Formats: sequence, C-alpha cells, structure tokens
Amino acid sequence: HKNPVKTGFGIAPVNIALSKYWGKRDVALNLPTNSSLSISLPGLGTQTHLTWLPTLGQDAISLNGQRLSSEHKFAKRLSAFLDFFRPNLAGHFQVITHNSVPTAAGLASSASGYAALVLALNDAFEWQLSLQQLSLLARLGSGSASRSLFPGFARWHKGKQDNGMDSYAEALPESWPEFCVGLLEIDIQEKPLGSTAGMQKTVETCEIYQAWPEKAEKDVNIIQKAIQNKDLTTLGETAENNALTMHATMISTWPPILYWQAESVAAMHQIWALRNQGHSVYFTMDAGPNLKLLFLETEKPALLQAFPNLKVIQPFKVI
Ligand code: PMV
Repeated sequence: HKNPVKTGFGIAPVNIALSKYWGKRDVALNLPTNSSLSISLPGLGTQTHLTWLPTLGQDAISLNGQRLSSEHKFAKRLSAFLDFFRPNLAGHFQVITHNSVPTAAGLASSASGYAALVLALNDAFEWQLSLQQLSLLARLGSGSASRSLFPGFARWHKGKQDNGMDSYAEALPESWPEFCVGLLEIDIQEKPLGSTAGMQKTVETCEIYQAWPEKAEKDVNIIQKAIQNKDLTTLGETAENNALTMHATMISTWPPILYWQAESVAAMHQIWALRNQGHSVYFTMDAGPNLKLLFLETEKPALLQAFPNLKVIQPFKVI
C-alpha cells in the first residue's frame, strides 16, 4: 500500500492564561504581539481520534457525538488546518472529537482541541515530534493551543522571526500543590464574537492598544517569578490586572467588544468584597462572561460558601 489507513489518538487539557494573548502580528501564522503564560486544567479538555482514509471523499468531523456538516464553521476551520498535513488530495480525515468543556464559551475549547489534534496527527503519522515542535503546529490552529501541550504552567514565547519558527510554548518546571483555579460559570452560550475577529478589531481600532504588548511582556515575567516564589498575592494581583487591561482594550475598540454580563460584574464585586474581608482570591476572564478564580487550598471552604456553583480544580494535586 502506498497510502495505507493511518490512525491516531490525542488528549490535551484546556488552559487558562494568567497573562493573556491578545493581538496577532501575523494572522495567517497566528503569531502574537506578546508572550503569554498559562495554567492547564487536568481533567478538562479534548480527546480526539483521527483516521486518514485514502478512499474517503471528504473530511468527516464529529464533535461530542454529532456529525458536523462540511459547512459548519468548526468543521471548515478544522479542515483548513488539516490542509497543512494531507499526504495527498485523494484521501480525507475522519476526526472524532469530544470536549469536556462547553465549546466556544470562553473556556478555551479551541486550545485543547488543536493540541489534541496535533497529538493525534503525530501519533497517526508517527512523526515523533517534540512537544515544542507540536506546540508550534498547534499554534497554527489556535494561538492558545500552543500552551495546551503541557500540564501545569506554560509560557508561550512570542518569538521574533517572521516565519514563526521561534513562537512556541514551553512548560515551566514549578509545581504548586496548593494552587487552585475555580471556574465560575455565568453563561455557557456561544460567544457572539470569536477571539480572532475580536483581536483584529482591537488591533485596528483601539487607540490605547499600543500600551498592551509592553505591559503583557512585563506581566509574564512578574507572574513567572511569583510562581517560582509561590507568591499568590503577586500572581493574583498581576493576573487580575492583566485580564482587566486586556478587557479595557476590548471595551475601547470600535465597535466596542464587551464580553461581560451583569452577573460577571456582580461576581467581580463579590470577589473584591471577599478580598476586603481578608480572603486571598483573584480572578481572570477571557473572551466570554465566565470568571476563573485564583486562590490557595486554604480559601476553598470560604469560596465554596460564597459561590456554591464554583468548580474547583487543583492542577498539581495528585488524586
Ligand atoms: O487562541 P485564541 O485565538 O482562541 O485566543 C485566546 C485569547 C484569550 O483566551 C482571550 C487569551 C489567552 O491567552 O488565552
């Protein structure tokens, strides 16, 4: 057989950026204007089975048990990404993918999705690429996916080259067993504006955007040091301020981009009130209305009391 059936599997976690990626310097290659730093959430993410069939007439993509039409925007984007990797134009891919997070609700399902997909491709075609090389490939699908190849903390280097060969993520070595992320679900509806379009509009029309890349680069370094020092106060203050600064650039875009809902703002006030009462808790937010809380294990009982629906994840705690 010249083109035998190839089959592979990949699994990857979602990640939450503590210092955000917002803005592309190259849209086609997903090259960011700034570096970013994230924490992966074990147990939440994507599992993907991929098969290359030399006789299949078109890609067959299913998401959470449902076969998508080739016109579905998720299927179109995935097929366009797979174009990079087709052994020939006769055969096609079958992709069966399951997310354990709501798709497109600001919970980074595209990050775990493209990371799982490149792992499945690497398995199917026996490339034996390093995680660094796979991170670079995942980046082409979705920028934040570059960080989902790793458990724990990861830093995505923005890189300098125009071809993107130095823009990939790496794991940070630190483990922090007491560190918790709490998912506060406000709304799981699909976001009205995707991050690619949101970033482009921000870069084009936000007059305060110039301040962002420098601030983001600084925050990545501060957060990395805070992780090394196990300093939750510095990590939390920097991450919360970083997220609010990113959202300030979105809000000052025209037409304005506001992912928050009234309940998001109410939750922020509740968190600030808890902080005033002496609780060490901070939040971050992405391109959606949900909040992600950052705190240590000791604050877990108080936070579960304040937010009964909070889903607490301890990324480094072995169960
Ligand atoms: O990877 P994308 O294109 O979905 O962009 C992610 C953007 C944010 O989630 C808002 C920030 C980040 O760094 O994850």
